[in-house]
Amino acid sequence: MFEIYDTKAEVARALSGYLERWSAEEGFRSIALSGGSTPRVWFDLLAQEYKNRLPWQELLLFWGDERCVPPGDAQSNYGMTRKHLLDKVPVEPSHVFRIHGENPPADEAQRYSMVLKEALPEDRGIPQLDLVILGMGDDGHTASIFPHEMELWGSDSLCEVATHPESGQKRISITGQIINNAKQVVFLVTGANKAAPLAEIRKSSAASAQFPAAHVAPTSGRLLWLLDKDAASQNPV
Ligand code: 6PG
Repeated sequence: MFEIYDTKAEVARALSGYLERWSAEEGFRSIALSGGSTPRVWFDLLAQEYKNRLPWQELLLFWGDERCVPPGDAQSNYGMTRKHLLDKVPVEPSHVFRIHGENPPADEAQRYSMVLKEALPEDRGIPQLDLVILGMGDDGHTASIFPHEMELWGSDSLCEVATHPESGQKRISITGQIINNAKQVVFLVTGANKAAPLAEIRKSSAASAQFPAAHVAPTSGRLLWLLDKDAASQNPV
């Protein structure tokens, strides 16, 4: 399902409304968060307007990916979430499961796989998140699975060490099996630079197979794309 909004702020507001409903009506509690500029807008909105509208003490927060940097680093997804959201809402600290970007990458991929296994119920033998929030890069990457490392998507592991194609930065990313085992997946895709890969994905073209984002297909069938009009400009619904 695709929904198109005029601005990032409206995309963020739409997601907030869905989360409020899913947490109230379906008991959604475990959420894997994403980094990126669109989630940052969403976090600011949640902190400003949803402090009393979500069961913050009951939410279990995970990350879909993390840069292999310390939590205080400007590039840390956790650090960004802390600054824009976690320092402003009453989450239970023991329910915040950050990826330890400061650890040796291979060790952390293993450790976080165990964290997911221990903290989440299983469905079909795979840990199941209630909600996974994903972004998409202009190269069609999602979480930190990049086109040049498509093999990571199908990994038997829940988490893998990925490498950014330009910077070479190491990252920890969850893999396809846990993403596609979530009850609900929501893509936040904004910006004209996403229009080309998004158009290919919407057409399910042969070219789209190169994009990791094209492989997101939750078994539950619950996949929602929240787009701004710039991202949707090459293929309006
Ligand atoms: C990250 C994100 C990454 C992001 C996309 C889109 O760690 O950077 O997980 O996958 O979602 O790059 O980012 P924007 O939302 O800024 O377009």
